[in-house]
Amino acid sequence: MGEVLEIRDLRVKVDDKEILKGVNLTVEQGEVHALMGPNGSGKSTLAYSIMGHPGYAVTGGEVIWKGQNILELSSDERSRAGLFLAFQYPVSIPGVTVANFLRTAINARRKAQEEPSDAPLAAQQAAGKKGISIPEFRKLMMAKMKMLGMDPAFAGRYLNEGFSGGEKKRNEILQMALLEPQIAILDETDSGLDIDAMKIVAEGVNRLLGPNMGALVITHYQRLLDYIKPQRISILFDGRVVMTGGPELALELERSGYELIREQYGDKVTA
Ligand SMILES: Nc1ncnc2c1ncn2[C@@H]1O[C@H](COP(=O)(O)OP(=O)(O)OP(=O)(O)O)[C@@H](O)[C@H]1O
Ligand SMILES: [Mg+2]
Repeated sequence: MGEVLEIRDLRVKVDDKEILKGVNLTVEQGEVHALMGPNGSGKSTLAYSIMGHPGYAVTGGEVIWKGQNILELSSDERSRAGLFLAFQYPVSIPGVTVANFLRTAINARRKAQEEPSDAPLAAQQAAGKKGISIPEFRKLMMAKMKMLGMDPAFAGRYLNEGFSGGEKKRNEILQMALLEPQIAILDETDSGLDIDAMKIVAEGVNRLLGPNMGALVITHYQRLLDYIKPQRISILFDGRVVMTGGPELALELERSGYELIREQYGDKVTA
């Protein structure tokens, strides 16, 4: 039995406005859990809050992972604990190449695995020096880039600078493929991808999914879920999870839209 990410009654404010109003949701390592819901319902807010983005103020609830409330950890520690977020809108970092960024990220992860974070700093730094060698890293990165159908020239470009929307998304998945998280949150990884790119990215994600990696897949469309097959689907509506079901839920939504949910929950969930 794998680990379970358990979100309990999570409340989050952005700019003093309550966006998440008590979210309850679990994602198991080894399962694909899709999260759907109308624009502005709080899906990205949930993803950012799980990863500890400073702009999102948690006012209540907890997120339990490996027996601890990760809301008490820094974003970096959450990442080292095996959580990963592929952003809806990836940011660019001028002056930092894709390869450098990824190698630094891998070394940080390895360091954390070799030395517990409460070990003396000198011991952590010594372990960090044993990080992945450049040739070893190149080989690994090229293999993963090939898997994602990426041009090797990307490795030498500055992170996301001038990348097309689809290239940014692929780069996020490349990062995920190298970090091998236990739970990945994919926030609209399909948006902006052409159909061929979506298939390649979905295949890449599928190769990583398995007993060791679960995913919370945020998407608006059934189309992605044809390729990345969820076991469960939850609907976020006005800052709360109002429905959880099997894969058929996405098909029902495709037919009926959010009208039924609005009718059922629209008046009940106004704060
Ligand atoms: N940084 C921010 N500043 C101001 N308002 C914000 C911020 N982040 C989120 N919000 C507000 O919180 C609400 C939820 O936004 P969020 O991005 O979480 O929605 P979403 O479900 O991801 O929508 P979409 O499907 O369009 O991606 C929106 O009303 C949004 O305007
Ligand atoms: Mg969003």
